[in-house]
Amino acid sequence: MPADPQSLHIRTYPDPVLRRKAPPLESVSDEVRAVAARMIELMFEAEGVGLAAPQVGLEWRLFVAHVPQNEDNSTLDDPPSATPEPQVYINPVLGPLEGDLAPSEEGCLSLPEIRGEVRRPPVATITALGLDGERFTATASGLLARCWQHEVDHLDGILIIDKMTQISRLRVRSAVKGLEKQARI
Ligand code: NI
Repeated sequence: MPADPQSLHIRTYPDPVLRRKAPPLESVSDEVRAVAARMIELMFEAEGVGLAAPQVGLEWRLFVAHVPQNEDNSTLDDPPSATPEPQVYINPVLGPLEGDLAPSEEGCLSLPEIRGEVRRPPVATITALGLDGERFTATASGLLARCWQHEVDHLDGILIIDKMTQISRLRVRSAVKGLEKQARI
């Protein structure tokens, strides 16, 4: 699938591309590297901590993430809950996921103005290819572990509105309907 990195922009719900399961990328080409670089720019511009390829209209199994160090998240946590710099994950596979499901509020660049509680395991391990095409495995806690799970969900067409607690789902219902209505105009 050819992609002009400069033409990429963030797609919002209910764009159907957000609901498709993305197949693995066959190779880590220069095109893939250029798209990843553009996605990192878009993530920074939108002040997000992660962005998955379907969110820019590409059915690719790739996401970028950058959880900066702050008072809640640190690269020194064991396992780390922040990244020292933006990271690229190609054909990521999650597992194992550890610990009891814990609720925390999440937002999504494809669901503007919508935030709600999602329950996820607090520790996650991920295996993926980096931009050099080499496979790596990493383990994270805190916001970084949550971010990985959120972004891998995007690659499977899953959004936070599918996973929110019942109370959050009710609270955001009219905002979700608003986005659907806006798309029909
Ligand atoms: Ni998202």
